[in-house]
Amino acid sequence: MSDKTYTLTSPEGKSIELPVRQPVLGQDCIEIKNVAGEFGAFTYDPGYAATGSCTSEITYIDGSAGKLLYRGYTIEDLCANSSFLEVCYLLLNGELPNQEEKTKFETCVQNHTMIHENLKNFFQGFRYDAHPMAMLLGVVGSLSSFYHDETDITDPESRNLFAARMIAKIPTIAAAAFKRNIGQPFIYPQNNLDYASNFLNMLFAVPAEEYEVNPVAAKALDVLFILHADHEQNASTSTVRLAGSAGTNPYAAIAAGIATLWGPSHGGANEAVLNQLEMIGDMSQAEKYINKAKDRNDPFRLMGFGHRVYKNFDPRAKVIRSYCHEVLNDLGINDPMLDLAMKLEETALNDDYFAEKKLYPNVDFYSGIIYKALGIPTNMFTVLFAVARTVGWVAHWQEMMADKEMRIGRPRQVYAGPEERPYVPVEKR
Ligand code: SDX
Repeated sequence: MSDKTYTLTSPEGKSIELPVRQPVLGQDCIEIKNVAGEFGAFTYDPGYAATGSCTSEITYIDGSAGKLLYRGYTIEDLCANSSFLEVCYLLLNGELPNQEEKTKFETCVQNHTMIHENLKNFFQGFRYDAHPMAMLLGVVGSLSSFYHDETDITDPESRNLFAARMIAKIPTIAAAAFKRNIGQPFIYPQNNLDYASNFLNMLFAVPAEEYEVNPVAAKALDVLFILHADHEQNASTSTVRLAGSAGTNPYAAIAAGIATLWGPSHGGANEAVLNQLEMIGDMSQAEKYINKAKDRNDPFRLMGFGHRVYKNFDPRAKVIRSYCHEVLNDLGINDPMLDLAMKLEETALNDDYFAEKKLYPNVDFYSGIIYKALGIPTNMFTVLFAVARTVGWVAHWQEMMADKEMRIGRPRQVYAGPEERPYVPVEKR
């Protein structure tokens, strides 16, 4: 808390001092919780664009500088030097692990990668062409039935076991959804493989022959997982916190996060970007679609562009864009979609509309191009986002559960409906 205050004065001239919750980094947060009691009035902020919901030590975003920190480490540093599981440890525990802690955590995750054999039956209930996000949502939600009685959310050890299970099992479930779509048998996790390699093996191996994971693909996926791991109070993480604040089963809260991430305005944008690039077709159409995106009467939006917080380049988009060239070159792939994406970016960034509204490429603009190069189908892109973001959801759920200020989330509203009125019998209507 700081000794700074803001003064709020009512139309009748009554003033109160609003305390400021001083962040370690970023803008002042004005505490408004006493406004309702002092003035009998609420604040109004649809979409919570100007409202802090909690205090968190996990991730910091500087939207104007285009900076992203996980527990104080820049995303660029972590992508260059760390691994996804090490970043998972960092996000969950607040510090990078020493070698003993790192080995213990990796072994713990590896020992929870298998799913209950009964869980595999759920996939048979889905149509073969069910969207894999629908299957992920349903199967992760069903984990709450397998671990309901033993999950004591008031016990830190039980919460840590939930964290290990969730991070370990989400790739297994995600790969199973893909196998259901293509009619191939599920592939069991292999504990001798690292996290990204294990996931690629479960996606692409078949029982009929040996499968060799491409180390370039594994490294690219590990970096993409790091980039997508957390992003402070985005819509899906806020959903997990809100669901968790009611004390619900944590596996059910993660399922709520998956449901939210699926939206094309959120994690579903990576799938929408590739579909949009394929619809635009080639660079000759770039100008036409940029003009459609600028037209307020046209619902068309340039997917993968714009962000609630970043009013500069999304640093994740910069890393992914540079990785696109590296991965496609290493894999010997020349994808015209990358050239088209670069042309769209160049055209948009030289256009006043995008400059005025501070619309830049976000994490979803280039990620699909790498996923496609790795042989992953478009409808699996958001599933991969969910695999990576699971650690962020879990870390925020853990932080919320340990937060002494935590209470059930329950926003207020502006009522715009009819005033009280008597019932009218049907014959008189
Ligand atoms: C993610 O929150 C997070 O951190 C999310 C995320 C994470 O890691 O968790 O970063 C992941 O969700 C990234 C965003 C992926 N979504 C998309 O790429 C979809 C396309 N982008 C937009 O729909 C939009 O930019 C949002 C949803 C991302 C942000 O929406 P805001 O902050 O509510 O902004 P807005 O919709 O009010 O837009 C402000 C203006 C509007 O014009 P005006 O009404 O002021 O005239 O900018 C325009 C919008 O029409 N605009 C766009 C645009 N995005 C915003 N115009 C054209 N193309 C776009 N992409």
